[in-house]
Amino acid sequence: MIGIIESILFPRVKINKALLADKLQKKTIVITGGSFGIGEQLCCQLSEIDCHLILVARTKEKLQQIQQELQNKPATIHLFSADLSDELQLDQFILYLQKYTVDIVINNAGKSICRSTMKSLDRFHDFQRTMQLNYFAPVKLCFALIPQLINNKGHFINVSAVNVLLAPTAYWAAYQASKAAFDQWLRCAEAELLIKGVTVSTAYLPLVKTRMIEPTQAYQYAPTMSREQAADHICQLIIDQKASYKPWWTLSGQLLSILFARSWVKLMQSYLKNKSNGRD
Ligand SMILES: NC(=O)c1ccc[n+]([C@@H]2O[C@H](COP(=O)([O-])OP(=O)(O)OC[C@H]3O[C@@H](n4cnc5c(N)ncnc54)[C@H](OP(=O)(O)O)[C@@H]3O)[C@@H](O)[C@H]2O)c1
Repeated sequence: MIGIIESILFPRVKINKALLADKLQKKTIVITGGSFGIGEQLCCQLSEIDCHLILVARTKEKLQQIQQELQNKPATIHLFSADLSDELQLDQFILYLQKYTVDIVINNAGKSICRSTMKSLDRFHDFQRTMQLNYFAPVKLCFALIPQLINNKGHFINVSAVNVLLAPTAYWAAYQASKAAFDQWLRCAEAELLIKGVTVSTAYLPLVKTRMIEPTQAYQYAPTMSREQAADHICQLIIDQKASYKPWWTLSGQLLSILFARSWVKLMQSYLKNKSNGRD
């Protein structure tokens, strides 16, 4: 049953591999968060093309394992291990990138936190860390790479979440606020980048089956998109250079979010009361 719901909510996109190869031949593509989940999958798919992939993430051994597994593929894979939420390490990565001419940036590294406000009262650092990785790091990376992207008529792709377009959800304040911050930043910068010849796209993804959602009990039985599908939608953005991918039901969700904004808050209130019987 869940499989049927998933195929309705998240129909597959068929990638024209020849067109994708045409777009990426000999190009240099930076993928942040290339060690696991959507980023790892994207790397596998793009490794079939003669291009340069630069992967950055914290887990060096996992990056090396990916490079090892894909060593016979046409793509050349370069690795950089860094915690992008650490400004010093981010600066080192930016310095490292200066020896390449980057054509495409896929801003995919992300951190999510699901925690109630009441349990966050002594955890201000959660908000600093999510903002550091999900907002400040891509802004700084963008600033560093915009000159190269302008020179190369490049493409910046942001991996965002469909939730930033819908009514906010309890417990997700840190994550959703940080994803919304970068989404808004990019939407503000978009026109300026477009007139300089840089293409800007956003993948507003629904729930994707990766380790990111594993700790959240409520998501265990929820319909999810596979990481292969998520990577396919990013590949499709590379091909058609559209401004965004959104699931087909996003507009209805947005309308409902506006029309039933207060009812949604009341629904969450009663859910939270039942769930915790007054505990947080
Ligand atoms: N899964 C979903 O339901 C979903 C839905 C909508 C949008 N998204 C977005 O999709 C993107 C990818 O998420 P995912 O689902 O593939 O999660 P994932 O499997 O946890 O992968 C996250 C990636 O980001 C990297 N990363 C995390 N913290 C980092 C840091 N401080 N510095 C550098 N790299 C870091 C991780 O590598 P290391 O741990 O090795 O550093 C990993 O490669 C995220 O931006 C997320 O917000 C996910």
